[in-house]
Amino acid sequence: MLFENMPVITGEEVDCALGFSAEQVVRNLPEFTHRFQKAYSENGFYHPIENNYWTTGFWTGEIWLAYEYMKGLGETGEAAAGQLREAGEIQIDSFLNRIDKKIEVDHHDMGFLYSPSCVAGYKLVGSRKGREAAIKAADQLITRYHPVGEFIQAWGPMDAPENYRLIIDCLLNLPLLYWASEETGDGKYREIAEKHIHTAVKNVIREDYSTWHTFFFDMETGAPDHGATCQGYRDGSAWARGQAWGIYGCALAYKYTGREEYVDYFKHVTQYFLEHLPKDMVPFWDLEFTDGDDQPRDSSSASIAACGMLEMIKSMGAEDAAVYKKYALQLMKSVYDNYAVKDAGESNGLVLHSTYSNHSPYNTCNHYGVDECNSWGDYFYMEALTRLQKDWVLYW
Ligand code: GLY
Repeated sequence: MLFENMPVITGEEVDCALGFSAEQVVRNLPEFTHRFQKAYSENGFYHPIENNYWTTGFWTGEIWLAYEYMKGLGETGEAAAGQLREAGEIQIDSFLNRIDKKIEVDHHDMGFLYSPSCVAGYKLVGSRKGREAAIKAADQLITRYHPVGEFIQAWGPMDAPENYRLIIDCLLNLPLLYWASEETGDGKYREIAEKHIHTAVKNVIREDYSTWHTFFFDMETGAPDHGATCQGYRDGSAWARGQAWGIYGCALAYKYTGREEYVDYFKHVTQYFLEHLPKDMVPFWDLEFTDGDDQPRDSSSASIAACGMLEMIKSMGAEDAAVYKKYALQLMKSVYDNYAVKDAGESNGLVLHSTYSNHSPYNTCNHYGVDECNSWGDYFYMEALTRLQKDWVLYW
C-alpha cells in the first residue's frame, strides 16, 4: 500500500472540521442567501455573484450539508438548521427561475448546478420546487446529447466543430439523469446517461489510466477523434482534478449501472492518482508536478477523490474497502491539517490552495482562481467529512 505511514483523520477531527465548516456557512448566510458565492475566492474571500455561473450549486450544497449537520445536533442546532433551510429554499427559488428563464444553462453542468441544490432540497425537505427545477434541468441536459457519437457535448453551440467534444467532468452531471428517470419513470434520461458513460470512459481513460480532460469526435461519423486538454498543463499530462472527477465518476458509474468494468476502471484511475501525489497527498494542479516543483496545488482534487473512494467502498469486499477507506481518511487528514481554513478572519471559505484554471503555455484555459478557495473544493470537503461522520444519502 502506498502512503503506509501517513496518519488518518480521527472521528474527533472530522466532527471538529465539520462543525467549523457548518458554522462558517452560517456566518456567510447574510451575504450569500439571495446571492451566490463566486467560483473562487480572491485573497481568501469569496464575493457574491448572481446565479449565473456553472458553480453556484456548490454553495447551495454547502448550505444543505450544514443543515444536515445542524439537524444532527438536535436542540442545539435547531435555530441554525432553520436558518439554513430557509436559505436553501430561497436558493432553490433562484434555481427554478434560472432554468425557467434559461439563464446560462447552455452547457452540460446541469448536474453540478441542480444535484447539490435542488435534488438535495427535494430529498432533505421535500422541496417540490427543487424537484420541478431539477427535472427541468435534466431535460435541458439531454438536449446536449449527440446520438451519432453517443455523448453529451460539454460546451458551446452544438454544431461547432471546436466544441464537438465531451469532458471527463461530465461524469458528475449524470446522476441528475438517473435521478430524473427514477423520479419520472421515464427511462430516456438513464439511457442517455448510460451511452455517455460508456463513450466517456472508453475514450478519456488512457492506456496507462491517466485521463484526458476533453475528447473530440468526428462530427460526421461520431468516431472518436483525439484527446486534448483545456485545464491541464499540456496534452498528455493528467490534470489533477480531471483524474479526481474520473475517480468519483467511475464510482458513480458503478453505483448507477452495476457494471463491474467500472470498478476496474476506478481501481486503476485511483492508483494512477495515488502514485502521482506528493508527500502530503494533496496534488499539485497537474499530476505532472510533484514535490520541489514551484506550482500551485489543487486541494479540491484530494476531497473529490476521497468522496469517490468513500462511495466506491460501499460496493466492495472488506479487504478492498479497508484499503480505499484508509486512503480517504489519509487524504482528508492532510486536507484538514494543512489546507483547511481554521480562522474565519483568514477566509470566508473552507479550504485554501485550490486551483480552478491555471493557464500554461500548452493549454487553452484562462487564468483565474489559482491557489485560492474554490466553491467545489469547499463543497466536496464538507461532503467527504459528512460521509465520514454518518451514513450519508447522496445528493448525486
Ligand atoms: N468542471 C470544471 C472544473 O473542474 O474546473
